[in-house]
Amino acid sequence: MRTLTGITPSGTLHIGNYFGAMRPAIEAQAGGDCYYFIADYHSMTTITDAAERRDMTRGIAVDWLACGLDPEKSVFWRQSDVPEVCELTWLLGSVTPMGLLERAHSYKDKTAKGISPNFGLFAYPVLMAADILLYDTNAVPVGQDQRQHLEMTRDIAIKFNQTYGQTFVVPEAVIRREVAVVPGFDGQKMSKSYGNTLEIFGDEKALRKKVMSIVMDSRTPAEPKPDAERNLCIQLLKLVAPADVAADTEARLRAGGLGYGDLKKALFERYWGYFAPARARRAELLADPGYVDRVLREGAERARRVARAVIARARRAAGLD
Ligand code: ADP
Ligand code: TRP
Repeated sequence: MRTLTGITPSGTLHIGNYFGAMRPAIEAQAGGDCYYFIADYHSMTTITDAAERRDMTRGIAVDWLACGLDPEKSVFWRQSDVPEVCELTWLLGSVTPMGLLERAHSYKDKTAKGISPNFGLFAYPVLMAADILLYDTNAVPVGQDQRQHLEMTRDIAIKFNQTYGQTFVVPEAVIRREVAVVPGFDGQKMSKSYGNTLEIFGDEKALRKKVMSIVMDSRTPAEPKPDAERNLCIQLLKLVAPADVAADTEARLRAGGLGYGDLKKALFERYWGYFAPARARRAELLADPGYVDRVLREGAERARRVARAVIARARRAAGLD
């Protein structure tokens, strides 16, 4: 059973990324056979500065390792170090109906916002399908926003298999219900592109200020809050605090008597404590850049061995051998 996921280096990692994709990926390491990568080719549709891409790619590598990605247990690499994925994108693109890509939410959302689309943005789900199919992946841990891309990947794999004979494993999305959509400070999905994020790493003072500035309603502390489970701070607290602590805080908010200031303080302290071990590990990694380079280099070699075998199989099936 092979697990694979990727993260695009297009901004700073937030707790939505962590709970939606990174933590399930890290936990899957206990069962072995895990493939995780930094999707730097994908970042080309948003970032057009070479130095920024380099820094961001490295930064995400460090952060992911700090959060518990273990290169002894997982293959960890940079997408562009295995360029076979681009060849597979072409093979898959040639069996992908235009209509499938035209229905993609991410494409429709971006064009609706007035972003003038390029071919890369349109073809993005095909590259993502190639990322997954190139490694005979069974399971892909992601947040809810990626569900459609996984369905497209399955459609593309099935279409190729029907056209050229059984070639690709058809993968499944792994989406945990309780963290499928981590809400951001404005109640929408937490996302780099909405500026509503709580970062995993960052300056303590600035992050505390961010949490303390979360907008709540104007009810007084004494008022009971029968809708306490829908309170944003409670929802986030459930992610970072032990279940009994979160339940107790929710009960106090519901009964009345717990002010929003104290609630936000409690959220910040739990969040800050939750990521303390990762922060310590990150400081060590930042002090040893050679280590991160070595991990990514060795990971790329291992990933490439699998990729070469699968691309050879696809070429043979399509008569490109
Ligand atoms: P963003 O929306 O911030 O740009 P990405 O698209 O880079 O995040 O997402 C990387 C991974 O994190 C994906 O698997 C995605 O589904 C997951 N993810 C992102 N935001 C959330 C969220 N708010 N809740 C749950 N998972 C999320
Ligand atoms: N598209 C994903 C995102 O924006 C990142 C990604 C690229 C990915 N390739 C992937 C995720 C393959 C899982 C599997 O979040």
